[in-house]
Formats: sequence, structure tokens, C-alpha cells
Amino acid sequence: MSSETPHPLRSANSPRLKGRVKVPGDKSISHRALMFGAMALGETVITGLLEGEDVINTAKAMAALGVRLERWNDDASWHVNGVGLGGFQPPAQTIDFGNSGTGARLAMGLLATSPLSARMSGDASLRSRPMGRIVTPLEGFGTRFDTSDGGRMPLTLHGAQHPVPIEYRLPVASAQVKSAVLLAGLNAPGATTVIEPEPTRDHTERMLQGFGADIDIGQADDGARTITVTGHTELQAQVVEVPGDPSSAAFALVAAIISDDSEVTVENMLLNETRTGLIVTLEEMGGDITVANERVSGGEPVADVTARSSGLSGIVVPAARAPSMIDEYPVLAVAAAFADGTTRLQGLHELRVKESDRLAAVAAGLKANGVAHDTGDDWLEVTGGRVAGGGTVITHLDHRIAMAFLVMGLASDEPVTVDDGNVMATSFPGFREFMEGLGARFEDAG
Ligand code: S3P
Repeated sequence: MSSETPHPLRSANSPRLKGRVKVPGDKSISHRALMFGAMALGETVITGLLEGEDVINTAKAMAALGVRLERWNDDASWHVNGVGLGGFQPPAQTIDFGNSGTGARLAMGLLATSPLSARMSGDASLRSRPMGRIVTPLEGFGTRFDTSDGGRMPLTLHGAQHPVPIEYRLPVASAQVKSAVLLAGLNAPGATTVIEPEPTRDHTERMLQGFGADIDIGQADDGARTITVTGHTELQAQVVEVPGDPSSAAFALVAAIISDDSEVTVENMLLNETRTGLIVTLEEMGGDITVANERVSGGEPVADVTARSSGLSGIVVPAARAPSMIDEYPVLAVAAAFADGTTRLQGLHELRVKESDRLAAVAAGLKANGVAHDTGDDWLEVTGGRVAGGGTVITHLDHRIAMAFLVMGLASDEPVTVDDGNVMATSFPGFREFMEGLGARFEDAG
């Protein structure tokens, strides 16, 4: 699987990466800002929105539901005129979420308790991803789904006419599932509770609080987190400043660590502790990272994060850390390929159902570039040191596979090629130019 006109891209050994940069806005917060703004009363103003393909598809989805959105070109701010609870219009056509699991799954929650039907689809990657994890809890509200084989997209959602609130214990550590249930609860009468045994990113809870939802966070008897929304409280429009995406910053930070004589600072990066697993892990491996100018912006902790060339050592990364770095494993595997000794990554079952089977895609990329490794169902061991490179990596419509292996090529002996650089526009438009600005060497490869 690759984009319609695949664009192979190659990166080559690039010492002396230097710079102070900002990365595009956080993808998770960007989707939520558009959706919560769409559901609120009044005009939500968003600055720093990620204008990658995934988020643009969410903006188009909101427009298809009757929401008026406008981008002001002078300051790149987005203005969303919300329709209020129950105010969405039935979409005239199939809504296309492209590559975005977050867009599709959160939108299912958003629409589950509205009395309308909506047909939803996406690209080949999204159509292959499991939707049962969303469909099952939403059916509890009274929502009905006509899905394709295996509970997949394309699917038609029929919103509940008379929704009933639910209590739901998450069977997988997934912020998307948590968020879909909470969003459905906003338009159901009474209390909807999600019980979360393993903490996942908490942007939905934080932002819903900011938008004035009736939301309570507590603890179950067994210590699990509980999040309860009481429905039928209107959200109020907000000003949202989207901080830099740590999952995008990860590529520049790892590049600085593995390349000789390098120092890169990413300014205004989100430092929410449900997202900092990679920073913790790189520090444990011996990565030279400093965090400065810590502050709170738009209800989220942010900081300027600097990474410098460092010798890394292999470690065991605990499974419990997985939710706080779930999107960073491809680039962590690349860092591990340059570390002395063996790094063991475990608790990786969810990587199998991301934009690609990321465990398989990472293993294939390591193999193509001569990196010793071993994998099991939900673990990966990488034995690092020097990386030969010289391989071609299949991206399978997965932006993070493309960026991670282009980072590998910046420090390997021979260049690394990815079969399709176009897929990076999903989350990081301009990634090539951004990295070239730091001194990275890329070339078209076909
Ligand atoms: C996201 C949650 C994670 C993550 C995805 C964004 C979100 O997915 O991988 O990129 O914004 O809620 P899961 O909830 O499936 O773990």
C-alpha cells in the first residue's frame, strides 16, 4: 500500500544537525479542538492547528455535518462556529477520514447519540483497522452500525434516537475508545462513566473541562481511573492554543541524538506526562536531553526540549510505559539500532493495529538495513551499534514508518530509502524541508 503517486525518498548520513525549531501542532489536540468546537455553542478560535491531512479531513467532516469553519490566512487561525448539542446535520455523502483512526473513531462517538445516519470510510489503511472496539461500547448507548466484513469501514452509523448512558471499562488501553464513549455521553441523559485501568493520553478530559462539560475524574476501588460525564450540558466555545506535537518532535530529537556533533531544540513542545514515555526512555538509555522554560499553555504543560549527540545503551522498556509512547516505538527502534547492546521493547500488541502493523513494518525496516533484531507477538529486541543502512523500507501508508527510517538514514553508513515519502503529510507536512533546515540530507529516490 502506498499513496496514489508514491514518491520514494532517501536520506543520507548528516552530522552536525543544529537548530531551534517548532514542530507542527499536536495531532490529538488538533482533532479534538475542531470536534469540541463543532459541538460547542459560539465561535471557537484555534491557533497552532496541525494542518496535516488527518486533521484537514476532520475539518471537512465537521463541515459535512453542517458546521461552519473558516481559516484566517493572516494568522493561520481556525474559527469554528459550533452547532450545540444535537445540532449536527446528516451528511449528504460518505465522510472520508483518509488515514485517520483518531478522526474516524472520535467522530463515531460524537455522532453516536445524534438522531442521524452517517456513512464513514477512509483509505486502505483505515479500512483495514478494527472498529469493533468503538462499535461495541457505542451500541450500549443504542447506536446501530452497519459495518463491512470484520466490523471494519466503510460503515454506516445510525445514531441513537433515545440514548441511554453507559458505564464502560476499557478492555484496551486506548484514548480513542475512551474519548468516543465520553463524547457519546455528552448527548445522553445522566452519567456516562469510563473506567481506565491503564492511563492513556488525557486531552479529551482536559479539554472537555475547558469547554465547560460536566466531567468528574475519580478512582475505582481497584485504583483504576474513572471519568464521568453528565450529559445534556452545552459546551461553550473556547480559545485553543495547540502546542507542538511530541510525536513529531520525536524525529528531530532522535536525529540529534544519533547524529554526530548535533544539538536541536524543539520549542513549545507538549510535555503532558501521558505523552512523555519516549523522553523518559531516551534519558534512561543515556540520551543527553534538557528541558527548559516549562510552563502551562492552553491548559497543557509545554517546554523547550533540547537533545544532543549521545552514546546510547540498550535497556528494557517496561510494557506499562507503552500508552505514553505508543506512537514513538518506530523511532525508538531506530534509536535502539544505534545503541550499544540490546534494547527490549515490550507490551507492543497495539502496534499491530496502527496505521500499519508497525511491529512487522519496523522489523522489516531493521532487516532491510542490516540491524540485528528479534520479535514476538508483542515485543521487539534490537541489538544496536553501527547501522549499515542501504535498504529500502516499505511504508504501508504509515507516516511514522516513513519518518522513523528517514531518521535512521541520517546516521547510518549508507543512505536509507523509503518507498513513499508522501505519506508523511498525514501528520507532518513539510517534514523534509523541516529536517533539511536542521542540516539533514535528503534526495528524491525515484
Ligand atoms: C490517539 C490515541 C492513540 C494514538 C493515536 C492518537 C488519540 O491511539 O496512537 O495516534 O488522539 O486519542 P489509541 O487510542 O488507539 O491507542
